[in-house]
Amino acid sequence: MSFMEKVIDEKKQGSALAMEPIKENGRKLFIESYGCQMNFSDSEIVASILAKEGFNTTQTLEDADLVLVNTCSIRDKAELTVRKRLEKYNAVKRTNPKMKVGVLGCMAERLKEKFLEEEKIVDLVVGPDAYKDLPNLIEEIDEGRNAVNVILSKEETYGDISPVRLQSNGVSALVSITRGCDNMCTFCVVPFTRGRERSRNPQSILQEVEDLANKGYKEVTLLGQNVDSYLWYGGGLKKDFEKATEMQKATSVGFAQLLEMVTKSQPKMRVRFSTSNPQDMTLDVIETMAKYKNICNHIHLPVQSGSNRILKKMNRLHTREEYFELIDNIKKIIPDCAISQDMITGFPTETEEDHQDTLSLMEYVKYSFGFMFAYSERPGTLAGRKFEDDIPEKIKKRRLQEVIDLQQIHSRHRATQQIGKVVEVLVERESKKSNLHWSGRNSQSSTVIFPKENYKIGDFVNVKINDCTTATLLGEAVGYSDNN
Ligand code: SAH
Ligand code: F3S
Repeated sequence: MSFMEKVIDEKKQGSALAMEPIKENGRKLFIESYGCQMNFSDSEIVASILAKEGFNTTQTLEDADLVLVNTCSIRDKAELTVRKRLEKYNAVKRTNPKMKVGVLGCMAERLKEKFLEEEKIVDLVVGPDAYKDLPNLIEEIDEGRNAVNVILSKEETYGDISPVRLQSNGVSALVSITRGCDNMCTFCVVPFTRGRERSRNPQSILQEVEDLANKGYKEVTLLGQNVDSYLWYGGGLKKDFEKATEMQKATSVGFAQLLEMVTKSQPKMRVRFSTSNPQDMTLDVIETMAKYKNICNHIHLPVQSGSNRILKKMNRLHTREEYFELIDNIKKIIPDCAISQDMITGFPTETEEDHQDTLSLMEYVKYSFGFMFAYSERPGTLAGRKFEDDIPEKIKKRRLQEVIDLQQIHSRHRATQQIGKVVEVLVERESKKSNLHWSGRNSQSSTVIFPKENYKIGDFVNVKINDCTTATLLGEAVGYSDNN
């Protein structure tokens, strides 16, 4: 698989989910998700809410009474993918006229009632904070009315809902810790579709992680748009922390503390987190990572551009020099830490010089991998309203290709550095290319492929790396790691 195919595979592909209902009502739900990990995690919450209503899930679209699609608005292309999917539902509805269709997630929030006008197939529009209202909304559509709830919440974190693990390998699970984002990067639609930032009660996070451990899970990924900004002070928006009582402030929990709490509560479990924002990532997080073996040595640290002028225009609140300082600190405290990036090419007014700054920043960091995109103007964002989308598509694409090509060189360089080492791999699944090989990841998030022998999914295995492709390590097992 090429690097870009991998990006598409990980970020864009929808996937249908299946689960058992708690009580039957004879109705079948087909639910699929597009976009970020948060959407996949949210679909597990939705499945849990509807399981309590007796919905039985199906993986066959044609059998569904209710079809839900969890949507992404991050780039124009993500929205087009969903619209194409709606065409498919439309074709199926011709043979199954009773089928109802609902849209969830960021596109629902962005388009609101307009969705009903633009896409006649849609009966139900539900934003990311309104999933608990789904049982009522479904009653509405059952009575023949369209239903919309796109209210954004100050408190909702779904901390009290135990997600149903869908399409899971039983080894690795997503655990959401914050919702929304306050950063207001000028290109980004997320603060508008997911609302203001709020954090989830640490006790409910610890409870969820404990439940996962009891079910045999070996790895959790703590999820948020900006995990370093996690702050629990008894509930409420992050921006209202100033108004908290002295007592609430004194007992508040930040991300480094949460990470330590989770890690100490389950010392055998691997802990990952995503996504970090350079402006909010503090040294205590890196020091906590260094202190505990079970926190994986990988930081996804999007930077978007290497040019100070563009960073400022993007409202990314750090400079190129501050980013380098953070990278230096990471490398000093955790020498073998993998760092990955998100990058945008062709942001309004980006010059060749700005683009060269991006390439030279990449050269400095030599990321292990990355997700790279051409700028896509989003309606309603500050950039969408104030800046002309003035970089021709051809130039955006050419710069994107240069960024991808350089990343491939760096990915291969990082992979090559692993050859000869013995790394601990958590076995996640069979290799896509060979049923004689396992596929898993090491602490740095590199995929490792090795012959199965007698190992099984969920084992921690020490693997000697003998070879690599651009993004994958190839090796052979040398024994169980002491983490089993
Ligand atoms: N903090 C988030 C970022 C979400 S968006 C997280 O948890 O990952 C993921 C990535 O999409 C961003 O880092 C950015 O590189 C890209 N992106 C966001 N808006 C974009 C736009 N308008 N055009 C192109 N890429 C965009
Ligand atoms: Fe978007 Fe920036 Fe938040 S990219 S999700 S506004 S950190």
